[in-house]
Amino acid sequence: MAPTIHIDPARHVAPVDPRIYSGFTEHMGRCIYGGIYDPDNAHGLADARGYRTDVLQALKDLNVPIVRYPGGNFVSSYRWQDGVGPKELRPRRPELAWLTEESNQFGTDEFIAWCRLLGAEPYICLNMGTSTLEDALAWLEYCNSSANTHYANMRRKNGHEAPYGVKYWALGNEVWGPWQVGQMNAEDYSKQAFQWAKALRLLDPSIKLVSCGETGFADWDRVTLKALAPVVDFHSIHLYTVSEGNHDVNVMGPAAAEKGIEITKSLIELAKIEGNLTKDLTICFDEWNVWDPVRAPGEKGAEEHYDLSDALAVASWLNVFVRKADVVKIACIAQSVNVISPIITSPTGLFKQTTYYPLQLFASLMQGTALAVHVAAPEPEDAYTGPTVPAFVARLAAHAPPSARPTKWLDASAVLAPGGAQVRVALVNRHKAAAAAVPIRFGPRAEVAPRVEVHEVWSAELGDRNGFEGEKVRTVVKTVDWQGTYECKAHSFQVLVFTLV
Ligand code: AHR
Repeated sequence: MAPTIHIDPARHVAPVDPRIYSGFTEHMGRCIYGGIYDPDNAHGLADARGYRTDVLQALKDLNVPIVRYPGGNFVSSYRWQDGVGPKELRPRRPELAWLTEESNQFGTDEFIAWCRLLGAEPYICLNMGTSTLEDALAWLEYCNSSANTHYANMRRKNGHEAPYGVKYWALGNEVWGPWQVGQMNAEDYSKQAFQWAKALRLLDPSIKLVSCGETGFADWDRVTLKALAPVVDFHSIHLYTVSEGNHDVNVMGPAAAEKGIEITKSLIELAKIEGNLTKDLTICFDEWNVWDPVRAPGEKGAEEHYDLSDALAVASWLNVFVRKADVVKIACIAQSVNVISPIITSPTGLFKQTTYYPLQLFASLMQGTALAVHVAAPEPEDAYTGPTVPAFVARLAAHAPPSARPTKWLDASAVLAPGGAQVRVALVNRHKAAAAAVPIRFGPRAEVAPRVEVHEVWSAELGDRNGFEGEKVRTVVKTVDWQGTYECKAHSFQVLVFTLV
């Protein structure tokens, strides 16, 4: 028998921050060129400025609040000055993260204009690899200054009178990684980032700064948080989960992220105690997704072709962010178009991957206030006892956390919707073969209406995928009579919308 899910609408965790449904566009593979920007498109899919209108619409339907840019690993050898001014004068450069060439036909001004069309806030990651604090200050001045100074005037000369007011700035990307141009140890990074933060804030005290963390369960996170807590607003962590051919590991992977968030939360508290700080400091999980870099290497554009199993993993990832709403305030799926993305383009159109649909359901329905959810312990014979940390993650991280075992096949999060009239439950049955009759119990003073709206993402085979030829995996909406138990298909994801009476 399936475990009972207990939800009490009076037990609030925290407001769900809409910024957990943010995106990321890197100069990598076909994310920018041929993805969001396609000026030579011969099929009428680009607007006058070269932006793909079909991509914009697909992203608008995801309500993307923030987009991180321009990397990722790309940023660590990026010269932002190459990407502004007359296009014919912009230099082509060797690109060291993905070993390609960068034309610089798309740069800061194009990115900001695209964000405005999308209705999203830009979030810029600074180059702490090859560039200097002077370059970083110049970039900030170019974007945000209203003074009569060189880089602010350069922006005006390029046709942009008003400052952009870019609020979010990250102090480097994965500086701990051996693949990073300009890799540093935690102590050296902390010293440098502290000085950068100080100077950047002198130029623009209104910005929000993000420190470069690792996975949340690395010593790098402890050392950098202790040093940088006084000067940053968010600590960034990254994680990718992967099946390595095993569905169970694929869908249980986000448990490692949940553990990383819990550890980071404690490290933040510790850094605040040690620094005698009372400020807000929360997590910006600015790269997350399912990615197997062996199957879809970065140098080849990392175009993962996701299946239903991956969609269930993405739904479990999003459940983690809703459950951890008290401390995760921003999360960016990596990435937004073509590169490990829910959207794949061709010159003639796009298709939405399986993973698009859970993301869309969360972004549209899982807003409001996160509620405490308890999934009762399964019968011992029904529990999953295998690994929750994919081997790929364990290889990367020196101290991959042993996440809770046994892990439950049913994974849930819940919100009290804005206005307080609905409880919405995101429910993943991660079991590959077993359907489950799931009793859902609300708190003692809560009653729900007898009809429940169900938004379901399901398909017959775990390996089912979408493509240009059609979509096997997408959202189906239906209404069911409610008698206290939900009949949940094997390998399914659904958001149940209950009306409180
Ligand atoms: O998102 C792809 C890459 O993964 C990013 O460039 C990097 O930050 C991470 O390693």
